[in-house]
Amino acid sequence: MTILVTGGAGFIGANFVYYILEKYPAYKVICLDVITYAGNMETLNTALNNPQFTFVKGDIADREAVYSLFEKYKPTHVINFAAESHVDRSITDPNIFLHTNVIGTCVLMDACRKYETTRFHQVSTDEVYGDLPLDRPDLFFTEETPIHTSSPYSASKASADLLALAYFRTYKLPVTISRCSNNYGAYHFPEKLIPLIITNALQNQPLPVYGKGENIRDWLYVKDHCSAIDLIIHDGKIGEVYNIGGHNEHTNLDVVKIILKELNKPESLITYVTDRPGHDLRYAIDPAKINKELNWLPQTNFNEGIKLTIDWYLNNREWWENIISGEYKNYYEKQYGKL
Ligand code: NAD
Ligand code: DAU
Repeated sequence: MTILVTGGAGFIGANFVYYILEKYPAYKVICLDVITYAGNMETLNTALNNPQFTFVKGDIADREAVYSLFEKYKPTHVINFAAESHVDRSITDPNIFLHTNVIGTCVLMDACRKYETTRFHQVSTDEVYGDLPLDRPDLFFTEETPIHTSSPYSASKASADLLALAYFRTYKLPVTISRCSNNYGAYHFPEKLIPLIITNALQNQPLPVYGKGENIRDWLYVKDHCSAIDLIIHDGKIGEVYNIGGHNEHTNLDVVKIILKELNKPESLITYVTDRPGHDLRYAIDPAKINKELNWLPQTNFNEGIKLTIDWYLNNREWWENIISGEYKNYYEKQYGKL
């Protein structure tokens, strides 16, 4: 197998690169990444020493570059992680989300058609289903839940999903789609809630919590997301959507307090800030289909996963200090002002 991993210098893509290189030493892995603010070559340092791994710098929406990569490496499987992934940035500037998340997906699928790739897998999100009310814990997102998006980010991801399903029906492109809940783990960019809270707390900085911190997310350790995608690309049925999640719901405030307790830092660091516009209330995945059809189950519970994640940030200070000392400072000031 030759697997093209797009967005492999980002959080989940990089975890997937390492997962595949370790589990399948005979597979070739090509990573295509344009290295946006969220992409990081340092993350791929270890992979670059592996002869089975090749890095190509480029934009998934650049048709010429993508076709020449396919011509040269002839990937059998394409796993599309490349995306603009942060909801807050999509609220400030939606345009780039359409370029990468929609046009980029279209270009990749055109290349898959042209070069008759065995599988195109679209890494999607539970955010395409919109949100669930806080007072109905009995409700969950299934694969049949209607698409109903809230942010420019989720609208762009939903557009890509619809396009992928259209390519399956119209061109018989062998497509699969996974829709996962919130991930956490190593290499998570500090703009997202869990790494933001860990890195700010380690610096004794205020911890911005939107609104009252009551919104609920369904957290999954990143390696469990990787194992689910592994099963889908090997044994999943083409044309199908698979939800991925581990029934691990917490309010944002709970998550922040759990991290503070682990780090032995005071709750007085918590700072309530203006809510995110259009803020989704609750995400909750029903993973029954992937459990039943592919026998997938998450291996890491939240207590264990959050400890592993905190340890990673403690042991890899240079990785995140390099990020937060650069352009990230401007983003942070614009997003949060003076806390
Ligand atoms: P990330 O922002 O950490 O990484 C995105 C990567 O894509 C970066 O390396 C970036 O440089 C690259 N990229 C961006 N635009 C590109 C382009 N035009 N061409 C090539 N590369 C480009 O994102 P992530 O959190 O790792 O998310 C990966 C995928 O998983 C996304 O598709 C996201 O929608 C989806 N997802 C994320 C989560 C989550 O909790 N983070 C949950 C479910 C699904
Ligand atoms: O559900 C999957 C999605 O999870 C992915 O598709 C997205 O790519 C990923 O970014 C994530 O989206 P969220 O918006 O849920 O993640 P984020 O870490 O930005 O926020 C998690 C929750 O924490 C959300 O309710 C908003 C809140 N929050 C976030 C930030 C950055 C705060 O309260 N304060 C903050 O500073």
